Amino acid sequence: MTTILGVIGDPVTHSLSPVMQSAGIKSAGIDAVYKMFPVTPAQLADFVTEVRQNAYHGFNVTLPHKQRIAPYLDEIVPEAEAIGAVNTVLNRNGHLIGYNTDATGYLRSLTEEQQWQPEDKTITLLGAGGAARAIGYGLLQADIAQLYLVNRTADKAVAMAEELSRVTRHESRVKAMPWSQLPSCLSATDLLINATSVGLDGTRFDNLPLDTLQAGALVSDLVYTPRRTPLLAEADALAYTTHEGLGMLLYQGAEAFQIWFEKEADITAMRQALLGALGD
Ligand code: ATR
Repeated sequence: MTTILGVIGDPVTHSLSPVMQSAGIKSAGIDAVYKMFPVTPAQLADFVTEVRQNAYHGFNVTLPHKQRIAPYLDEIVPEAEAIGAVNTVLNRNGHLIGYNTDATGYLRSLTEEQQWQPEDKTITLLGAGGAARAIGYGLLQADIAQLYLVNRTADKAVAMAEELSRVTRHESRVKAMPWSQLPSCLSATDLLINATSVGLDGTRFDNLPLDTLQAGALVSDLVYTPRRTPLLAEADALAYTTHEGLGMLLYQGAEAFQIWFEKEADITAMRQALLGALGD
């Protein structure tokens, strides 16, 4: 019988997961289909019932369900619990398990695509939304030296620093900093990450002093539309190394694939599919 998987979201039509996962499934020769499931918050309970009745093998979770899905699951792995969001669900014989592959996916993207190791590094993370939190958690688990959290609304960075300190018990390694202190953070930074929505559709930061960033640093942007964001273009011009947002999308998907099928995903096939969908 054909295995059914998919992605739930509202809206979901923009999701690149179907194209990416279908390429991985095809390459592995697995008898499975990966669908798009438009599900509103009001339909979430019925969708989970449908998963159990029809034994869908699993699904990805996107906005606005990454936090709301938790009460409907039978188990949430500790990493997803600590991140406070679920992006992947596995149906193991009627037992629904929630995972979060964003942190692992992002770190794999850094190490495999950039050969960049997080140990003992100083990192500045811009943003305090769901993506920032997942990545902040992943980095703090990876023996970094220091994580500066910087957000336009300073209070949110402070709250996120407290929350990450609590769940990782690495209080000394995480610090919220006001935006005005960016020059002093950046001068000691090995990796600058944009986890804000700035860059989407070509938008720019108005007050990011990129020229204060330490020479030789890596600039990483989670935004992947466009692939080369204004931030990455500016970083290029200033001779910093750059890391595109496509990487996190790809590797979080590869990690989900591995959870469902218990085999390594074909990264090359999945990347090609994403590049094709993005018109590259
Ligand atoms: P996610 O998709 O990761 O869940 P989100 O919750 O939509 O993210 O949050 C978007 C992030 O982009 C926030 O950190 C937001 O900053 P505020 O908390 O101050 O709103 C940030 N952001 C959006 N527009 C921005 C801008 N023009 N300059 C700086 N940060 C911006």
